[in-house]
Amino acid sequence: MRKSILALASIAVFGLVGPAAAQSPIVIKFSHVVAPNTPKGMAADKFKELAEKYTDGKVKVEVYPNSQLFKDKEELDALKLGAVQMLAPSISKFGPAGVKEFEVFDLPYILPDIAALRKVTNGPVGAKLFKLLDSKGMTGLAYWDNGFKIMSANKKLIAPEDYKGLKFRIQSSKVLDAQFRALGAIPQVLAFSEVYQALQTGVVDGQENTPSNMYTQKMHEVQKYTTVTNHGYIGYAVIVNKQFWDGIPADVRAQLDKAMKEATEFGNSQSQKENAEALEEMKKSGKTEIITLTPEQNLAMRKAMAPVYDDVGGRVGKALIEEFIKESG
Ligand code: LMR
Repeated sequence: MRKSILALASIAVFGLVGPAAAQSPIVIKFSHVVAPNTPKGMAADKFKELAEKYTDGKVKVEVYPNSQLFKDKEELDALKLGAVQMLAPSISKFGPAGVKEFEVFDLPYILPDIAALRKVTNGPVGAKLFKLLDSKGMTGLAYWDNGFKIMSANKKLIAPEDYKGLKFRIQSSKVLDAQFRALGAIPQVLAFSEVYQALQTGVVDGQENTPSNMYTQKMHEVQKYTTVTNHGYIGYAVIVNKQFWDGIPADVRAQLDKAMKEATEFGNSQSQKENAEALEEMKKSGKTEIITLTPEQNLAMRKAMAPVYDDVGGRVGKALIEEFIKESG
């Protein structure tokens, strides 16, 4: 029902996917769910600036932040229907879109740091995963960073037992579901735009996200405790509607590729700083107590989440997990 409404709305308001070259200027609607002052928001704005400059006005990029156009699940439908042309969904959201191999990125503690991540996204695994998007009518253009996730609740989260029985908001990822179940918690999928209110009203007890996402949504104001676990990663695959992208004249597409490359370098060089500053601001606000774990406490969390690897291995194949780990090393 919802899909058909969306389809009709998009046809009525935006028109169907048509040859990009036929429009003048070519308009790229870029929808995303986070605030402009986040790693993704800033990279999207940078892409707009550079794309319009390098194409000399032949392309106009309209950035719609904060889920103002579409929420998580809807935005992927909207891309397929041609209601938007570009998105940067979190990699965790590709499983439900039929590309389960992206789940590897969600495995707890699989990436020690951003340098390890970069080796994967710039290497054969990154390219192989993008190739899988083709058959779904999408083209992968770049991997954008956010950063490592931290946990929050109104209860101190130190040992794995502390998570027992609590409800946690998750993105729509089977790995994240398994991760919280391994801790004895109850995962619940919610769109990003709904998280603050769900925390405030007690629909869920806690959540995991990057400091930047937490801070810009004010989640820290409704969570008494925040634990710096760095147990998992949030990053993005920038995708376009394949039919639309292939229809852009080659010379203009090359200019857009250059803009995307530079926006990616810019965004990825800022993300760690953005997250460090957001954590600092949360600390300064005094609204949430920031807890850091000892190496022993970290190890206990890592052990408690280890069973998730078997679960994911059964779905995407152990070979892909091994290849991912090897490339990141
Ligand atoms: C989330 O839903 O928590 C994130 O994927 C939001 C985002 O795009 O960073």
